[in-house]
Amino acid sequence: MKKFSVFASGNGSNLGAIIDAVRAGGISAELVLVVSDKKDAYALKRAENAGIEFFCFDPKDYNQKEDYERIIVEKLGKKGVDFIVLAGFMKVLTPYFINIYRNKILNIHPALLPSFPGGRGVRDALQGGVKFSGVTVHFVDEKVDSGPIILQDIESVLEDDTEDSLLERLHKIEYRLYPKAIQLLVEDRLLVEGRCVKIIN
Ligand code: GRF
Repeated sequence: MKKFSVFASGNGSNLGAIIDAVRAGGISAELVLVVSDKKDAYALKRAENAGIEFFCFDPKDYNQKEDYERIIVEKLGKKGVDFIVLAGFMKVLTPYFINIYRNKILNIHPALLPSFPGGRGVRDALQGGVKFSGVTVHFVDEKVDSGPIILQDIESVLEDDTEDSLLERLHKIEYRLYPKAIQLLVEDRLLVEGRCVKIIN
């Protein structure tokens, strides 16, 4: 069975959905390590409650990103991790790390990429006046929210939507879409051709 790690910096509600999907058999891989750059991230509490090993580091303790990434890579190697799932992880990974796990790192973003990348995707979409937004799951490359797109789903933007109300609906899509994309990777059904991802039946 494949093994994976989830990286999270915050609440970790996606992590929660992933843990549930593993338990329910919707993801047929083992979640062996949760990594966080924030010691008070609720994601760590979720890992602890689920009995999953976790590793927390403080970026301030390191001179450069590669210094903590080397430690993470070592831990991932020891745990036999095959792929990585970013779920609200707020640190940009360096080319050093991405090269080691090329096409083995997934991310989820609460907007329809390539529109509205970055940490303010929901706000930017609302301010952009879009009628539809959505969720994107993509492979991670060297740039922020820019790798080949795996799955997307759309959500109508309502006239009285606030950032919170739209995000609440987008979260519900995320909890469904992310486990689905993860399972496609587990089953080796994702074929990356340039910027495009084909789903093999
Ligand atoms: C999600 O909206 C995800 O799309 C974005 O960060 C948020 C993480 O939320 N990358 P949570 O920590 O999983 O609740």
